[in-house]
Amino acid sequence: MADTDTFPELPLFDLQLEPEDLQAVADTLRSGWLTIGPRTAEFEAAFAEHLGARHAIAVSSCTAALHLSYLAAGVGPGDEVIVPSFTFAATAAAALYCGATPVFAEIVSRKQPNLDPDDVERRITPRTKAVCVVHYAGYAAAADRLKELCDARGIALIEDVAHAPSAELGGRKLGTWGLAGAFSFFSNKVLSVGEGGLVCTDSDEVAQLVRSRRSHAMTSGTWDRHSGRTDTYDVTGLGFNYRLDEPRSALLLSRLSRLEAEITRRRELTERYRSLLDEVQGIIVPFEDAQVPGSSCYVIPIMIEEDGRQAEVSSRLRERGIQTSIFYPSIHRFSAYRDRFPGVSLPITELASRTELTLPFYPHMTYDDQDRVAAALAEAVAR
Ligand SMILES: Cc1ncc(COP(=O)(O)O)c(C=O)c1O
Repeated sequence: MADTDTFPELPLFDLQLEPEDLQAVADTLRSGWLTIGPRTAEFEAAFAEHLGARHAIAVSSCTAALHLSYLAAGVGPGDEVIVPSFTFAATAAAALYCGATPVFAEIVSRKQPNLDPDDVERRITPRTKAVCVVHYAGYAAAADRLKELCDARGIALIEDVAHAPSAELGGRKLGTWGLAGAFSFFSNKVLSVGEGGLVCTDSDEVAQLVRSRRSHAMTSGTWDRHSGRTDTYDVTGLGFNYRLDEPRSALLLSRLSRLEAEITRRRELTERYRSLLDEVQGIIVPFEDAQVPGSSCYVIPIMIEEDGRQAEVSSRLRERGIQTSIFYPSIHRFSAYRDRFPGVSLPITELASRTELTLPFYPHMTYDDQDRVAAALAEAVAR
């Protein structure tokens, strides 16, 4: 990041691409085929193998992946989808796209800011069609307990794995616990290419629906016609244009080969960061150290113990060139949701949203920069 007038010295995230990434994209641009095609298929096969999933279907975003996953779970008008509110708005919005109602459930605590299975259980009604669990910051939520809960009631479990590629719970990759997992390749994510997403599933029916609906529910694609497999098509349902394209697929393939190494680096840096942050008075560092090795270590969230100091601490850090963000404001408190779903009260989630700050973090962050953030945070919180 060169321009210090417009960028903070220590940004929240920083993307570093390698020469082979640029080469892969340039080769694709020269190939003359840009929309979905053989590179996308190659990336899908590689990502499915990486996850140990039967199918991986690339789409244009995680939001699209969530929408298609909910549709594949049969979510429709009148149904309810239980979601956390301590997540990005897309987790809930995708239920609204299906004509269903998002039902917001609590997180466990500020130390474990993932969906609370007990609260999910309390919110199940005869209209509950799906539960969507988010693995916040890359740390596994209780997918095992949620799966049991959902299986026993014939409810679909969907995983929003936007933060957690390559993360695990009990030796099983996140995204493979439920009916479908929705990944994000958005700009600031662990495996980022600007825009992109993916649905993974072991179900042939889900895969068939997602594959069809991502491209207008057409029985053949442009690549099939270009490569002479067919010259016509039927439209068999209501589909969307949720396709990924070839340059991004090539970039994903190139970056996927370094994913494990990057996550190993993220884990080492996270362990070091956490030991520095453990010394800072007046903050809670979410999750336990023992959860780090199974995590994708997407971001470094902290919670200021005392309520009402988020804006002040954030602005003190900004004065020192350190960018922070609130990850996340509660969805049910956004104006569109407050008006539509009045009376939702989730005290733990709301406190987390009022006290959380996310700190700069990326795989090539230096120890000096980590030391600088921890020292500045200690000063900012101490007043
Ligand atoms: C938890 C979560 N779900 C869904 C999304 C949406 O991802 P995308 O931007 O790929 O649609 C995001 C992106 O920020 C996210 O953090």
